[in-house]
Amino acid sequence: MAKRKVQYVCEACGAATIKWQGRCSGCNAWNTLVEEVEEAEVRPQRTSERVRSRGKPVPLPDVLASAQQEVRTATGIGEFDRVLGGGLVPGSAILVGGEPGIGKSTLLLQVAGMLAARKLKVLYCTGEESLGQIGMRARRLEVEGETLLVVPETRLESLTAHVEAIEPDLLIVDSIQTVATGELGASPGSVTQLREVTSALVGMAKSRDMPVILVGHVTKDGAIAGPKMLEHMVDTVLYFEGERAVPYRIVRAVKNRFGSTNEIGVFEMRHRGLVEVDNPSGMFLSERPRNAAGSVVVCTVEGSRPLMAEIQALVSPNSYGPPRVTAIGVETSRVLLMLNILERRSGLRVTGHDVFVNVAGGIKINEPAVDAALVAALASSKLDQPIPAGLALFGEVGLTGEVRAVGQALLRLAEIRNLGFERCVLAHSNAERLRRETELPEGLILHEARDVRDIIDALFVKE
Ligand code: TYD
Ligand code: MG
Repeated sequence: MAKRKVQYVCEACGAATIKWQGRCSGCNAWNTLVEEVEEAEVRPQRTSERVRSRGKPVPLPDVLASAQQEVRTATGIGEFDRVLGGGLVPGSAILVGGEPGIGKSTLLLQVAGMLAARKLKVLYCTGEESLGQIGMRARRLEVEGETLLVVPETRLESLTAHVEAIEPDLLIVDSIQTVATGELGASPGSVTQLREVTSALVGMAKSRDMPVILVGHVTKDGAIAGPKMLEHMVDTVLYFEGERAVPYRIVRAVKNRFGSTNEIGVFEMRHRGLVEVDNPSGMFLSERPRNAAGSVVVCTVEGSRPLMAEIQALVSPNSYGPPRVTAIGVETSRVLLMLNILERRSGLRVTGHDVFVNVAGGIKINEPAVDAALVAALASSKLDQPIPAGLALFGEVGLTGEVRAVGQALLRLAEIRNLGFERCVLAHSNAERLRRETELPEGLILHEARDVRDIIDALFVKE
């Protein structure tokens, strides 16, 4: 009889212990340990299978030759191909994460439909929805094609058999959490199952030269459920971002062995599925109020793409209780830092105020180039003076209040001008470097700032 071994595995990092603890000793997260029962006899056999040889050593010229033959399959959905780095790479494993209802199944059914329209074979395996539900979605999306095969399946062994029989050009598994192998006692979605199932599917993708897309559920704090290990096992990790109430969806590559990371694809959820957005900057700025204090435009760069976004700040006197800082779309710590720098380096009194900052359109900005825009938005709200329309900013702000150069300045300036803006605030050092290396784009008035006081002086009338 198989000996049953009980262990506790952390859902966040995958570390295992034999005793239950409130806090994981691997990653220090609280309440993440779950009980897993392991069939002791099965292990050694599976382990030996996993280390089985994958072929014989090959001379480098042959390795190079095989790399040159790499052919990607473009899905035909431009924004999706862009995040993938140009299309689907044969044998690659792609994990797509995002909150429930954000559009994962919609996008993947559209991708499947595009490939099926070109007579490529796609196997769409669903463990979450019935054939009827998929049918309704397909009708809504107007997806058709005989080579698109849908199978409701939650057993890994049956799924493998389907793949062997059908030999698809692409396998989609929606979702990885619903698939389980009969070899393990653990329940579907548990860490042990996830690891086993993912490893088997990734192995199958590699050995068959077939790309596989796995849908991954996310936990409340936004990480893909299951250990981080899942992300290490696949080649590409894509995340859906966006608020459910706002129709814009951003698909972001956070890991990509076959392309640049932080590349994004922008979509809009419409009645008939996700539609590519050709001009995201224009879209994010379309509802910008005119002449409103606290609203500014920043030019940020995501991967290879410049993106204009509106930042709004509200600084209002706090009459009781400790002041609060709330930020959506940028890190709260960055807002706190800019408030302190404003207070200390520009003499603007912002303490004793409640502060709210929001990036319109549900996008998230993580790069330091947003600093200058934050400073301007906060000051504009505090002074109750609108920033002139047609002006955009970018630049990092250091602790002494200095405005520092950021990368991709030329790309940003071009985007700012393309969108019809006339003025731009940037770091003096950025402008200097551009003058030395290339030519500055014509038709833009540049305000070169050395520190935060220069930004304030350029934008606001003295009180
Ligand atoms: P879905 O792809 O099922 O989300 P996920 O797989 O990430 O859980 O998307 C569901 C949402 O999208 C749902 O609220 C309905 C909406 N939707 C549209 O607005 N238009 C469409 O054409 C489709 C198919 C869905
Ligand atoms: Mg779904």
